[in-house]
Amino acid sequence: MFDPVSFTNDAINKVKSNVKGRAIIASSGGIDSSVAAKLVSDALGKESLSVYIDTGLMRENETKEVERTFERLGINYKIIEAGNLFIEKLKGITDPELKRKIIGKTFIEVFEQEAKTFGAEYLIQGTIAPDWIESGGGLRDTIKSHHNVGGLPTNLNLIIYEPLRDLYKDEVRRVADHLGIPSNRQPFPGPGLAVRIIGEVTKEKLEILRKATSIIENHIPRLDVQAWQYFGILLSDKSTGVHGDLRVYGYTLAIRSVNSIDGMTANFSNLPLDSLGVISREITNTIPKINRVVYDITDKPPATIEWE
Ligand code: XMP
Repeated sequence: MFDPVSFTNDAINKVKSNVKGRAIIASSGGIDSSVAAKLVSDALGKESLSVYIDTGLMRENETKEVERTFERLGINYKIIEAGNLFIEKLKGITDPELKRKIIGKTFIEVFEQEAKTFGAEYLIQGTIAPDWIESGGGLRDTIKSHHNVGGLPTNLNLIIYEPLRDLYKDEVRRVADHLGIPSNRQPFPGPGLAVRIIGEVTKEKLEILRKATSIIENHIPRLDVQAWQYFGILLSDKSTGVHGDLRVYGYTLAIRSVNSIDGMTANFSNLPLDSLGVISREITNTIPKINRVVYDITDKPPATIEWE
């Protein structure tokens, strides 16, 4: 039986005995990296630094919320504004695996720079078991290169330490509850909105998807249905719509909502059609560049939860 209290004590002791120098923490603001940050901070205090990179691929208000959580938990942290750098590196890139690898590599490059400034020898990451199993570390074929595994450059100068490597999502949530970290936040992928934009990532598409995401995130928790993770995906092909008397081409947004325990398998959520209709109308009314909304009714497997 998994016990979050003894896991926490063991993890802090293991950090103390394995991390023999200053450590920088790759913090995405998600539950995994926040738990890792808190464990390492409790073990090393000011000898650790949580670095949060605002990649410009985040959801609305995400950076502010992360800052508030760090403050509340008393973690030593730094926020780096890097939106333009990421957009520049992603210019013209449409291949999903390449996108993930570029984002991962850029992340690590920015961290390495920060690590030098901080004098860190260690890089702590919030990698959990499904991340490395699905990145080809286990017996399965590579499904997706999750950014915290697939994108590492070979000449890495930092020693990687992953305190949550053996945990599954439900176990991380229990540790988060024990540590006073919000655990009801739904998972959000490291590469952010970039893997929810099919094709090239642009500032325009990010802005559209950010608005649609907050509409979806606002509505779904209020419904009387089970939903573990829910978000929108902006498709690359445009389709015909009407504005007044004019035929116009607009974007299609797919809504994805799934029920799952650990993200390894999932079923699409049984959302009422009426509610989907309300969400669809709010999206098309407030975001004129979207003229079609569809609902993804595929389980994992055969689909993955994210579209890229
Ligand atoms: P998939 O799409 O592989 O997603 O079925 C399973 C769960 O993992 C999340 N996910 C990620 N989390 N870095 C992360 O930390 C990533 O690169 C990443 N990709 C997917 C996804 O949101 C879902 O909860």
